[in-house]
Amino acid sequence: MPRSVPAIIAAEVFTKGAQPVIPAGEGLVLRPWLRRDAPEVFAAFQDPAIQRWHARTAESVEEADDWIELWLHAWSGGADANWAVADSHTGHVVGRASLRSMLLSQGLGEMAYWVAPRARGQGIAPRAVAALTSWAFDEIGFHRLELRHSVHNPQSCRVAMKSGYALEGTNRSATLHADGWHDMHMHARVAGDLSTETLPLALGSRARHRADG
Ligand SMILES: CC(C)(COP(=O)(O)OP(=O)(O)OC[C@H]1O[C@@H](n2cnc3c(N)ncnc32)[C@H](O)[C@@H]1OP(=O)(O)O)[C@@H](O)C(=O)NCCC(=O)NCCS
Repeated sequence: MPRSVPAIIAAEVFTKGAQPVIPAGEGLVLRPWLRRDAPEVFAAFQDPAIQRWHARTAESVEEADDWIELWLHAWSGGADANWAVADSHTGHVVGRASLRSMLLSQGLGEMAYWVAPRARGQGIAPRAVAALTSWAFDEIGFHRLELRHSVHNPQSCRVAMKSGYALEGTNRSATLHADGWHDMHMHARVAGDLSTETLPLALGSRARHRADG
């Protein structure tokens, strides 16, 4: 049966296109994951805050390597897209930025992220979110990006606000964590929104596709 509403984003963007490298300002880049990143992912998941807010632990480097394999394959599925946030000079991982629960037909997606403990407090998450937001709206044509965090995670709320994701409300008892159900803040940006705070990266930057495809 033909759709009465055209798809906002063609699935081929993900099924046929290569995952891009996205510059995130001086010294920072979002790049596809590499298998050699596994020890850094394993180390990040020893952090209690990452364990708490992402509701998982990594038992071994091999398990982190399995996750990376899943993250790499997710791209062509068109539902989740995952980038390593890396120091562009050294290549070392400082965090992760993802668009998950993507609904391409409607141009919807959800922003998610973590930053390694040693790299926190330097605005890395807002820079990564700004770069990924710019790519999603300006280059791919997303319509609405959501960002959810527990009401008990004020650091993540700051990232949302600094990245121009307006607080739309609180979803009651919406996510199960290890200590029980948490109310969740729902933030969002819609294409064309003006940022409520100064973005750390000018919108409109252009993604650079991987030279090696
Ligand atoms: C939330 C998180 C991604 C923020 O990343 P970041 O790159 O440190 O972001 P920022 O530098 O913009 O700091 C955000 C807030 O963290 C707090 N902060 C500052 N320095 C900090 C530090 N060294 N350690 C922890 N928090 C710090 C401040 O409240 C800051 O807000 P402010 O800029 O208004 O003062 C990071 O703390 C993290 O990964 N936490 C654990 C996992 C998590 O919460 N993921 C998100 C789930 S929704």
